[in-house]
Amino acid sequence: MTNFNEHNLTDEVVRSFANTPNKRLKFLIEETVKSLHDLVRRTELTFAEWNQAIEFLTQTGQKCDDKRQEFILLSDTMGVSMLVDEINNRRVAGATPSTVEGPFHIPDAPEVAHGASMAGSAPGIPCFVSGTVRGLDGKPIAGAVLDLWQTDGEGLYEEQRRTTEPWMRGIYKSQADGSYSVRTVAPISYTIPMDGPVGAFFNRTDMSHMRPAHIHFAISAPGFHYLVTHLFQKGDEFIQNDVVYGVKDALIVEFVKKPPGKASNGETVDTPFYEVKYDFVLEQQQAALAAAE
Ligand code: BEZ
Ligand code: FE
Repeated sequence: MTNFNEHNLTDEVVRSFANTPNKRLKFLIEETVKSLHDLVRRTELTFAEWNQAIEFLTQTGQKCDDKRQEFILLSDTMGVSMLVDEINNRRVAGATPSTVEGPFHIPDAPEVAHGASMAGSAPGIPCFVSGTVRGLDGKPIAGAVLDLWQTDGEGLYEEQRRTTEPWMRGIYKSQADGSYSVRTVAPISYTIPMDGPVGAFFNRTDMSHMRPAHIHFAISAPGFHYLVTHLFQKGDEFIQNDVVYGVKDALIVEFVKKPPGKASNGETVDTPFYEVKYDFVLEQQQAALAAAE
């Protein structure tokens, strides 16, 4: 076929992928082409704008390295990550909800003993987080792996500190009664990285580029759905205005300020500190449920 124009080009491009053997790939390509063409048509995109978009995506790729993922940041700030998360984590009522993973998770964090600190020498107010990991039936889950990461008390992640040693992350295990106990320092609200193309874009809008203070958790246990979530600090000024749309009411927790004294892990602390209590509820996978019946 020849003589393509704005009215017949989309159908022809879609048709050209008709024999793609992988059906899911074929579907995804077709829908992408249709959505992209639709965008160009609706906006009557100019050549200058098309060039700018190409330049922006090029810079986004160039900003990525083994610790910095600017494309995930772009996806997060456009709400795409949260949408993918919602569609793929339709958990039943009562299960702890998920939220975006974000770009700062680094695999293979060091294992930290029950109640011990993952904060090392990091600056910040001591913070003790404890609770249980349970199933929907209320039974404790022993041996669940809790992979935590967060900013230090100055709002910086390991990737931003560029430390050689792990910084503000650790892997804890739940005990026989399902309990977990973490010593850390309190995170603070922070700006998404603004030194790349996503930041440059935000500077051209009037949107907030802040995230409310939070601690990330990725929790796994055999037979249960993997949970990636955060705990957000109640009262944070950005709680209603998270730049990546990640806040859910069920994930907002009180960081209770305590005077010097005994903390939940049994330690005595000689400065004021925070106590946070939270019980995670995991949903059993269908296969595990069927096997139990
Ligand atoms: C974060 O929570 O670490 C994060 C998530 C999305 C974008 C930027 C940061
Ligand atoms: Fe974060």
